[in-house]
Amino acid sequence: MREHTEESFWMDSTPATSYPRLAGDAETDVVVVGGGIAGLSAAWELTAAGLRVAVVEADRIAAGVTGYTTAKLSALHTLIYSGLRKSHGTEQARLYARSQQQAVERVAAVVSELDIDCDLERVPAYTWAESPERLDSVRAEAEAAGEAGLAASFVTATGLPFPVAGAVRVEHQAQFHPRKYLLALAEEIVRRGGTIWERTRVTGLSDGEPCTVSTENGYTVTAEQVVVATHYPIFDRALLFARLEPRRELVVAAPIPAESDPGGVFLTPEDNTRSVRTAPYRDGQRLLIVTGEHFTPGAGDVAERWDRLAAWTRDRFGVEEITYRWATQDNTSTDQVPFVGKLHPGARNTYVATGFGGWGMSTGVMAGQLLAASIAGTAPEWAGLYDPRRLHPLREAVSMLKLGAGVAGHFIGDRLRPSHADGVDDVDPGTGAIVRVGGRQCAVYRDDSGTVHAVSARCTHLGCIVRFNDAETAWECPCHGSRFDIDGGVLQGPANQPLPREDVS
Ligand code: FES
Repeated sequence: MREHTEESFWMDSTPATSYPRLAGDAETDVVVVGGGIAGLSAAWELTAAGLRVAVVEADRIAAGVTGYTTAKLSALHTLIYSGLRKSHGTEQARLYARSQQQAVERVAAVVSELDIDCDLERVPAYTWAESPERLDSVRAEAEAAGEAGLAASFVTATGLPFPVAGAVRVEHQAQFHPRKYLLALAEEIVRRGGTIWERTRVTGLSDGEPCTVSTENGYTVTAEQVVVATHYPIFDRALLFARLEPRRELVVAAPIPAESDPGGVFLTPEDNTRSVRTAPYRDGQRLLIVTGEHFTPGAGDVAERWDRLAAWTRDRFGVEEITYRWATQDNTSTDQVPFVGKLHPGARNTYVATGFGGWGMSTGVMAGQLLAASIAGTAPEWAGLYDPRRLHPLREAVSMLKLGAGVAGHFIGDRLRPSHADGVDDVDPGTGAIVRVGGRQCAVYRDDSGTVHAVSARCTHLGCIVRFNDAETAWECPCHGSRFDIDGGVLQGPANQPLPREDVS
């Protein structure tokens, strides 16, 4: 018997939504494609500015990446300020800090304005190090974050139940329940005359006056402006995929007594990253939420990674029972700064928000504000920092080359690799394998009842060969992180077409 729920706590503790599908052609001021925190925040800001807005979500709102986050609302992003100061300069680091901190404050203000019960708690944020070798970098970050304008200090004691060598501590940060917040925001968007369509996959976009968005079910929506907030942009004329690295992380959660709450949001880059926060839980307990073991989608060994994370959590916090486990995914840009702004250099009325680097809560809210202000013609002073049309060859060259070499390796190498199983009959129940059938590479999964599910192994984004994630029963593309279910349905972009079925009988 499993001891944990294979679902995120956020999804498990809130009702499902049931907004209608788009059922005919429509017209509005702004279409927002994607109903995660960036899309809903943009829609909220735009309706607040008096515009007519329609959110078009392929599945259910706040149920993709946003439903599986760890929901730390923080302007302290590991060790970013020392890096930004070096690569972008002091002023840009200041703008980054100011934009992220004002997003934290924006959530607090909206919660207060709408009286949203979303477990918002103001807490300090920490980046900690246990290894003395990392102390210098932590000290440097405290200094750089302070210089950037955050209330930062270097400390040697935290609320964690184990000693640290040192940590950056930043005051005035927060944690919350992201779905409680966003479901309330969605209701308010509709109350203000906005529209939300769920289960409506967008498949086409034309930028013009007006713009046109077309959907899988054959309808179109015309609008003055379009925001693409689909986590990984499903329309990508600027080839942002070449500058975004996908990264998947695992999460475990377990109840702890309230008096054991470490009182903050914590992260260390050590141990392949560990992130810690808590949330209110039943019977007066707190739910400890630990994230880590990041990897490139398709890398395999997911079950072992989960075991390591659970063992670390039991060992460090003395918990007995892991109650939840889930996984999350994000993309990091090659210069570490998210892409928020015009979709590509020739874009007239289309915008994008992506590359949040694991900090999607503050950045998603910031992106919503930035895009709404840009559409209103009042872009904030940090708009240039986040502009997707930037390209800094010196800052990005090494990361882009590394990323490109990795993708090329998968694209060519995975085609040349022998099949993982000789034939369909060699695929055991509960497992998946790439099998060559009639010269085609097929992704074959056999379920526990023996039924075979076979789809093309060629990712519908750019054709890399997918790999099986045995712990999450999904096909994953190692090139840009698209994910598919066992029948080929898209779980995560940039792919927005399913893997075609294969007849392997
Ligand atoms: Fe780009 Fe698969 S996600 S090729």
